[in-house]
Amino acid sequence: MSHRILITGGLGYIGSHTAVELIENGHEVIIIDNLSNTRIEVLDGIEKITGVRPVFYQTDMRDKAAVKNFFDKEKVDGVIHFSAFKAVGESVHKPLAYYENNLSALIILLQELTQRGIHAFIFSSSCTVYGQADELPITEKAPVKPAESPYGYTKQVGEIIIKDTVRASDLKAIALRYFNPIGAHSSALIGELPLGVPQNLVPFITQTAAGIRHELSVFGNDYPTPDGTAIRDYIHVVDLAKAHIVALERLLTHKNKASYECFNIGTGMGSSVLEIIQTFEKVSGQSLPHKIVDRRPGDVVAAYADTTLANKELGWKAEKTLEEALYSSWKWQQSLR
Ligand code: UD1
Repeated sequence: MSHRILITGGLGYIGSHTAVELIENGHEVIIIDNLSNTRIEVLDGIEKITGVRPVFYQTDMRDKAAVKNFFDKEKVDGVIHFSAFKAVGESVHKPLAYYENNLSALIILLQELTQRGIHAFIFSSSCTVYGQADELPITEKAPVKPAESPYGYTKQVGEIIIKDTVRASDLKAIALRYFNPIGAHSSALIGELPLGVPQNLVPFITQTAAGIRHELSVFGNDYPTPDGTAIRDYIHVVDLAKAHIVALERLLTHKNKASYECFNIGTGMGSSVLEIIQTFEKVSGQSLPHKIVDRRPGDVVAAYADTTLANKELGWKAEKTLEEALYSSWKWQQSLR
């Protein structure tokens, strides 16, 4: 059954891929984005892939009056909320900007949803809530650890705000805790658009291979891991986008088992930084200049998901390989030249 879905931050990296998957699953998509960290051309990319141009509002989610106006005009059945700042390092220098943007937008949105009886809400959370987990792979039962950054706190507090709202209203919510999203749509018409010097590994790798960056710095090779470099769970953004569709449909069809649920969204497989470099070199045919430097402060040794709960409850599992993900990132990078 087709539903009208609002995607906030729908022109961002994960938002745009989710818009495509929603449309391809027969839903009607409405996008709000303030274009603070993306470009309007992403809308063209979504249209080229799907043949549908979603209704678009250039609105800042902190603008209470504008958000109210939006809901006065548009009837929606559910909301997937992506719009937020996401640069960990920047959040340390601009904590108030992060708390204001990420939390006030969430609060304003939840006020509108609860007042208007819109029940289905998906929140983009992060594996960062676990910090360095005591046990690997990480299940949803792992304790939430003190955050390493204001960004991390906005995800933890965001989850608490939603939990409290669900308890006090008819709202039903699912938080998806993403591991490390990478890759791009196979068409190379949408992908990640990092502004300035990328902080994340894969965009830095593809820019280095494209000659935009001189060499990759590998942050530490003295971790207690098989090759000494840190381990993460890299998930293809298209698989991640699909998890949003099944989570949303779970709420829309009342299959949720609790009013608030959270799921880890990863592949379940850990890869080290050196493994990522080697795999990238293999799929791209490029050799990647890199050097070992000190560890990056705040980085955990290893994080990868136990995805049993998402497999069982959502009927979802990551299907794409690391090779496919890195190849799609490379294709996307080349399309940006
Ligand atoms: C980071 C955030 C996390 C956020 C996620 C998604 C931190 C501490 N965590 O995860 O909260 O949800 O991005 O955007 O920033 N690396 C290098 N060289 C580089 C860049 C990265 O060696 O130039 C290494 C890192 O040390 C890490 C791995 O690559 O081991 C992945 O790094 P990154 O892509 O930044 O993601 P996370 O740090 O895992």
